[in-house]
Amino acid sequence: MDRGTGPAVLVTGGAGYIGAHTAKALHGRGYRPVVFDDLTSGFREAVQWGPLVEGDIRDADALAETIKTHDIQAVIHFAGLIEVGRSVAKPDLFWEVNVSGTTALLTVMREHGVGQLVFSSSAAVYGQGARGPLETIAETADKAPASPYGDTKLAAEWLIQAQCRAYGLTAVALRYFNAAGADPSGLIGEAHEPETHLIPLAIAAALGDGPPLTIFGQDFETPDGTCLRDYIHVSDLAAAHVAALEAGLAPGAFEAVNVGTGQGRSVAEVVEAVGRAVGCAVPHSLGARRAGDPPSLVADPRRAQEVLGWTPQHSSLDTIVADALRWERKPCYGSGVRGPKGRRKSQIAV
Ligand SMILES: NC(=O)c1ccc[n+]([C@@H]2O[C@H](COP(=O)([O-])OP(=O)(O)OC[C@H]3O[C@@H](n4cnc5c(N)ncnc54)[C@H](O)[C@@H]3O)[C@@H](O)[C@H]2O)c1
Repeated sequence: MDRGTGPAVLVTGGAGYIGAHTAKALHGRGYRPVVFDDLTSGFREAVQWGPLVEGDIRDADALAETIKTHDIQAVIHFAGLIEVGRSVAKPDLFWEVNVSGTTALLTVMREHGVGQLVFSSSAAVYGQGARGPLETIAETADKAPASPYGDTKLAAEWLIQAQCRAYGLTAVALRYFNAAGADPSGLIGEAHEPETHLIPLAIAAALGDGPPLTIFGQDFETPDGTCLRDYIHVSDLAAAHVAALEAGLAPGAFEAVNVGTGQGRSVAEVVEAVGRAVGCAVPHSLGARRAGDPPSLVADPRRAQEVLGWTPQHSSLDTIVADALRWERKPCYGSGVRGPKGRRKSQIAV
């Protein structure tokens, strides 16, 4: 494997969707990504740009050993549980992995003098609050997570910020909006089980690899009545992590930054874009609104430009869909998340 020669960066959760794309981006900038992942939802085949250390984020000894062995200089922390619905059923597990896991990591970093962290946070830290239905969300908006998953992301941010104040850690929490698309090479892409994201589900429905899509809610206060979301290409997201490492923040600084485009796209627009790309209409049915689905979740992305000097380059809806479709037609791994004849085993929601 061709490896970079620059500083070694620990990528926890680097066998997963966004982590694998970030490892590729780090390698492209000359860093040496070292992936630490227990493979609960990640894939060995996704780790192509540096070594894989198999371990649990809560295992302080394994983390310490990895930091020493690989001379780690900075950490990008993706490892965690991500399914919002499951977090409602198992909040204790989510606190254990997402919050206690982050505590273990922070302690080991401090003990070994690793002073820089980039953390995967989420737009799930924001609630609907007093925001108008079509208002974009700035970092200063009310924090009122609608799920235990969002609670764990906000709690982890607080922990990190407190360690910045107390011990001089430098950290950036990136609050992602809707990660989507795949690396244009076709080597890595999205393979969640269960898949809950709109674009892979719409593509699976259009290709006949999954059941018809359900569009939940057509009476939101949005231009076409379906929900608005902010889709960000996973390659742009990966670039934001590299920009966060290189932002030149002072020791002790903590920044929480939205990563989105500022453009809301409706479910109906996405379904149309998938239909155009595949060349047939997406089979779908109309369902009732789901509890807790806000009409609109769209970033105010200005702070990312100010703090990180980052703007999205690949996040037009058609580019996202084209890259996702390339991957879904020929995924290099993740066959276990599909059933016989390539059909997706599960389709939970849009
Ligand atoms: N996908 C999105 O749209 C989105 C949006 C906002 C935030 N996020 C956050 O980004 C991060 C990555 O998301 P993703 O979509 O790539 O998810 P993913 O499930 O593909 O990746 C998560 C990785 O963490 C690993 N992992 C889980 N538990 C672990 C543990 N105890 N120890 C070590 N490794 C463990 C998994 O094996 C997997 O490789 C997550 O923290 C998620 O909460 C994702």
